[in-house]
Amino acid sequence: MAGEKQNKNRTDPISKLLVDSLKAGLARDTERLELIALSATRRLKPGSPNLARELADMLASFSVNASSLRWAAENPPPTDSDEGVSLLRIPSIDQAHPPLLDDGVASQFHSFINRRRSMAKLLQEGLNPPRTILCQGPPGTGKTMTANWLARELQIPLVVLDLATSISSYLGKTGANLRKILDYARSSPCLLLLDEFDAIAKRRDDQSDVGELKRIVNVLLKELEDWPYHSVIYAATNHQEMIDPAMERRFDLVVQMPLPAPDQRAAILKNSLGSFAEHADEQLFEACAALTNGANGSDIHRAGQSAASKHLLENVPLAIALLEELGYMANGEMEKSEVGDVARALRSGTDFTVREIADLIGKSPTSVQYHLTKKEKDGGKKTKTTPGKR
Ligand SMILES: Nc1ncnc2c1ncn2[C@@H]1O[C@H](COP(=O)(O)OP(=O)(O)O)[C@@H](O)[C@H]1O
Ligand SMILES: [Mg+2]
Repeated sequence: MAGEKQNKNRTDPISKLLVDSLKAGLARDTERLELIALSATRRLKPGSPNLARELADMLASFSVNASSLRWAAENPPPTDSDEGVSLLRIPSIDQAHPPLLDDGVASQFHSFINRRRSMAKLLQEGLNPPRTILCQGPPGTGKTMTANWLARELQIPLVVLDLATSISSYLGKTGANLRKILDYARSSPCLLLLDEFDAIAKRRDDQSDVGELKRIVNVLLKELEDWPYHSVIYAATNHQEMIDPAMERRFDLVVQMPLPAPDQRAAILKNSLGSFAEHADEQLFEACAALTNGANGSDIHRAGQSAASKHLLENVPLAIALLEELGYMANGEMEKSEVGDVARALRSGTDFTVREIADLIGKSPTSVQYHLTKKEKDGGKKTKTTPGKR
């Protein structure tokens, strides 16, 4: 009898969880949702360990978000006294992805995370855990993205102050507003992202605000010295040359974000294609990485997303869409030196014949064949066709 009852209960536990979670969701009962997800994770683990892990990850990131929301709900971010608008943004970080960085830069961040996580151990021995990061590098290299990921890794809410917009809109009141912001960020564990940090330095040229700016810089210098251990300051700037060396020295960690190397460019592109990355040839990514020398991660990501959408919605072959988005196929005109790379990208990423490729890029088949063979010789490769392609 008991066995039968159990069996009946076990007939469709997932459906029951689905109904329960829908109910909790509609009632906006996040705590109940968390409980249901926990129970689902346990039930799924024996039969579907991967799904259970995915759910557990979701749960972990959700609780970060939930605690951030709780903190924000209990202590709303400060507002500008006259305009009443919020001085800070508290974006959700539950979808924050790890940036694709070169090993040197990645290890600096990993070491920071490791030391933050081992804070108690360090403090016990009289060592100071790091609290402040200055991240410098060209636009679109992942500085803001890294701040999101760091906050997620450290399980603390992300609090964002965009200095480029706030300084100009709170002209004359920046000092007072900054004070409120810093006090807020000190009041509970969080990662305070001071984005476009150079905006503070930039306005130093503006004579009308010299006094105000000096005060702001002094406030910041002092804050960096005695910042509490429970929170992190992450300042990001595209203009390293605008940061005062005295300011730079106050940060526990200064990271230089370089433009992505070929490996990272290929990885960023692959990531940006969503599920289409699985069907694409590895050589296509290599070729595109070679073509995008000097490009930043942001532009590559955007090109990849547009190419994938074009491929999906307009039936354009992925390789062509990618080359179009990366700016190589506008009207068949391209630098002589690029013909080989583009031809190779098309040869590896599509089923096109040499003649078809030649037509597409407006060159003669002989020229295309010449470049393909030359590349193969140069690269010491013997294969003329891509594996899996006719
Ligand atoms: N190193 C990277 N790894 C992965 N994606 C990147 C990287 N750099 C840039 N991107 C992509 O470009 C977008 C914008 O980057 P962002 O962090 O805003 O750059 P920055 O703050 O340095 O100007 C990111 O959201 C991401 O999609
Ligand atoms: Mg940024």
